[in-house]
Amino acid sequence: MRIPRHVAIIMDGNGRWARRRHRPRVFGHIRGSSRVKPVVREADRLGIKALTLYAFSTENWTRPDTEKSVLWKLLKKYLQSEKEELGRMNVRLGVIGEIERLGPDVRSVLDPVVEELSGNTGLRLNFAISYGSRRELARAARLFAEDCVTGRRKPGEMDEKILSSYLWTGGLEELSDVDLVVRTSGEVRVSNFLLWQSAYAEYVFLDECWPDFSPEHLRAAVDEYSRRERRFGGIGGTG
Ligand code: FPP
Repeated sequence: MRIPRHVAIIMDGNGRWARRRHRPRVFGHIRGSSRVKPVVREADRLGIKALTLYAFSTENWTRPDTEKSVLWKLLKKYLQSEKEELGRMNVRLGVIGEIERLGPDVRSVLDPVVEELSGNTGLRLNFAISYGSRRELARAARLFAEDCVTGRRKPGEMDEKILSSYLWTGGLEELSDVDLVVRTSGEVRVSNFLLWQSAYAEYVFLDECWPDFSPEHLRAAVDEYSRRERRFGGIGGTG
């Protein structure tokens, strides 16, 4: 099987999954957060080098406070309960998004775990939190312009590599391009997720909602990816 280097997952459908069971939306988030651990393990086992999980978008701030506070609790719980195993697995944790918008209670858990795992050399696990691709691109343009004003950069230097380095994913370097995007819940859209980084990605859309996602679904998506021919705009091997 051809293994994608960077897999990104839009973990969608928690609310619908819960509603179908006549339960509150947060029930879906609770079940959804329990799906992260087995999927991280499986990604590592398959030899995927980077896994990015869309946990909270810039648009998700409009959700009710009660729902957001459950999401932050679940994130903190995950970090606290998994940091040791992530350490043993040699996982390096990263966050892409506007982390400055997160409350001090979240940062006080998140920052030390990111720091603790920063020397690791295995799977790059990234949580996209308060993430939006358009905001990321606008921010990159602003930072580059600021560097031009201070003389660190010249406008004529701008190219694809330099733009990539100004994105939140810049730290991933050669892994920042996404090979495979998986979206659960039957929705077939991109939702402002890694637009630049997914320029040549393969997309796999699954009907299952995220709370039902399992390592087998990840394997099936990777299998589907490995059967696709990626031509990057060329004519491929048959031409
Ligand atoms: C999409 O479902 C899911 C989210 C907005 C949040 C994803 C978060 C988690 C899986 C839990 C976070 C925990 C960790 C460990 C990262 P939705 O609510 O948009 O579902 P809907 O489209 O059915 O309403």
